[in-house]
Amino acid sequence: MSILSDKHILLGVTGSIAAYKAADLASRLTQAGARVDVILTPAAEKFITPLTFQSVTGRKAFTDADLWGGEAHVLHVGLGHTADLLVIAPCTANTLAKLAHGAADNLLTITALAARCPILLAPAMDAGMYEHPATQENVRILRERGLFFAGPGEGRMASGLVGRGRLLEPVELYGHIRLVLGKNGRLAGRKIVVTAGGTQEPLDPVRVLTNRSSGKQGYALAQAALDAGAEVVLISTPTGLTPPVGADLRQVHTAEQMLNAVLAECAGADALLMAAAVADFRPKSVAGEKLKKRDGIPQVELDAAPDILAALADSDSRPRCVVGFAAETRDLLENAAAKLKAKKLDLIAANDISAPDAGFGVDTNRVTLLYADGRSEALPLMNKTEVAEAIIERLAALLEHP
Ligand code: CTP
Repeated sequence: MSILSDKHILLGVTGSIAAYKAADLASRLTQAGARVDVILTPAAEKFITPLTFQSVTGRKAFTDADLWGGEAHVLHVGLGHTADLLVIAPCTANTLAKLAHGAADNLLTITALAARCPILLAPAMDAGMYEHPATQENVRILRERGLFFAGPGEGRMASGLVGRGRLLEPVELYGHIRLVLGKNGRLAGRKIVVTAGGTQEPLDPVRVLTNRSSGKQGYALAQAALDAGAEVVLISTPTGLTPPVGADLRQVHTAEQMLNAVLAECAGADALLMAAAVADFRPKSVAGEKLKKRDGIPQVELDAAPDILAALADSDSRPRCVVGFAAETRDLLENAAAKLKAKKLDLIAANDISAPDAGFGVDTNRVTLLYADGRSEALPLMNKTEVAEAIIERLAALLEHP
């Protein structure tokens, strides 16, 4: 179940050319299962129509015309009291200023004043306006009052100027919304370290030994942990995937670098989810120059790469809960159980990658969970997001009842 399912999101849209991006955001939120009520300010209506939003949310979009209707006094209070989150995207300098000072001169600002839910602001304004001391002071006041901010980003504005003030892209706004909604989840106050991707062991300056891990399972775990309110450090090799909003990314390449990052980050962490596919072998020596064809076929001698989980098992940095992953092509449960024991894990997710619908490069996994106390649980075929959510739920239970 997505964190957006059954959530009631109020989306405020103010008068900025970036208002068109809010339609995409409203669509994403609706598709993720949220009930989205949109409020447009009079200035927003100059850029985009209520019909645009009604068409993507399937619900009436509100304007100031509703403020002066028969149910007006109920409307703003009702919207503000039932919402799980009020997000204003784009939020102009003018609306920021009104919110900072408690002005209530349109349906959106009145609703914001009546709202008792978290408020997330995504500023959008021309370069210079955001840096202006008046706007900066308003941002400070609102932050101090506990409002959340998403952006603004840097880049080219509609005016042609380049600077800070761009509305974040809808996909990033969506990530910030998840982050705020998850804040008080089951893992709030916990630090979770996640590793992802396949390590790259250099042979020479241009060649590496690597594996076919996509990183998808690790990134899904990081997202699920964030959805549950955790502070997440994501130690990843280059995967080409976008890290979830809110994850603190540490980029590494080799098993050695991943080991050092894991030991450093796990001190003080509550759990490690070791989803990375770490090299077992690495070239014994790395050529300083590119190996040339004219010098003949090289004989590559391999050496053992560090076993990160084994090293962590005996270190002072070991967090309370350590979760490993076993990708096997045969004797799945026996092999996974042996790894659980040898690496002193609390939980191992055993994945049969010989099946065509599970493992590397596909979007689904067929996972059995094995616990240190001998329990086991076979999960049905699930996509990697669902597997991640299931594992995070089990992890939360382990942390709550050790
Ligand atoms: N792992 C690790 N360090 C390594 C290799 C693996 O920490 N050098 C971790 C993986 O991230 C995973 C778990 O150990 O969580 C099991 O990985 P797997 O590759 O299945 O196990 P190996 O120890 O490599 O055993 P084998 O080669 O016998 O399959």
